Amino acid sequence: MTGRVTLVGGGPGRADLLTVAAVRALGAADVVLYDRLAPYEALAEYAPTAELVDVGKTPGHHAIPQHEIEALLVEHALAGRHAVRLKGGDPYVLGRGSEEVLACHRAGVPVDVVPGVTSAISVPGAAGIPLTHRGMSHLFTVVSGHAPLTPSELEHLAGLGGTIVVLMGVNTLPSLTAGLARFGMRAEMPVAIVERGFRADQRTTIGDLADIVFAAGRAGVTSPAVVVIGEVVRLAHDGDASAAELMERAAAFAAVAS
Ligand SMILES: C[S@@+](CC[C@H](N)C(=O)[O-])C[C@H]1O[C@@H](n2cnc3c(N)ncnc32)[C@H](O)[C@@H]1O
Repeated sequence: MTGRVTLVGGGPGRADLLTVAAVRALGAADVVLYDRLAPYEALAEYAPTAELVDVGKTPGHHAIPQHEIEALLVEHALAGRHAVRLKGGDPYVLGRGSEEVLACHRAGVPVDVVPGVTSAISVPGAAGIPLTHRGMSHLFTVVSGHAPLTPSELEHLAGLGGTIVVLMGVNTLPSLTAGLARFGMRAEMPVAIVERGFRADQRTTIGDLADIVFAAGRAGVTSPAVVVIGEVVRLAHDGDASAAELMERAAAFAAVAS
């Protein structure tokens, strides 16, 4: 009898950001294949009887190649097991979840997807950065920094306005910032890099388009990190900022913008 596959979005890495549906799926799993950006420390509690397989996917380093992960999922399901694929963030946001779903469809294996809290939105939020704020930004764009953007993509992004969120963007930050500047983005545009969101050692580095590469180098910024480019970075805070201070910053922006 064929088993099934459930892709589970595990959120940005903290166990209490797993959804109720994610916890239920883990509890029903025979085998869990997990990534390192997923909250794998929670597996002992939520999948105590399942076989656990570390497929070790960190940015730029796939311990098990993508096609082998897909083959493993299918193999487990065809052997009659319920295989849960625990992924970081949301499976459909720059996470290759759709490729895994297609592999299951091709093999005739039933598959469903549990959405997760994406790092693209939650990690900036963990640093106090909202992606939208009335009067500052009414749109956001999420891009992959895995490979450098093309000139036409850079031109488009630079002209779009709003907030730009970059995942996997630490290595390509120099070409991104130089490209946005070339296509007219102001040198003073605020930029934040939030490393290891929701972990005890979460850290935010703040600069502007002109100096963020220098600031990142000086701070020794590493992956995983989310880069945020836009006026909303002015609202970044570590939880200690007073309401009065934040309102002052928003008002200062409104005064400049008007
Ligand atoms: C392959 S992408 C997967 C994104 C995932 N599907 C999501 O929705 O969050 C991995 C990238 O997400 C970002 N990321 C994920 N979790 C993070 C965290 N806790 N702190 C900072 N960045 C994180 C980093 O940019 C990392 O390189």
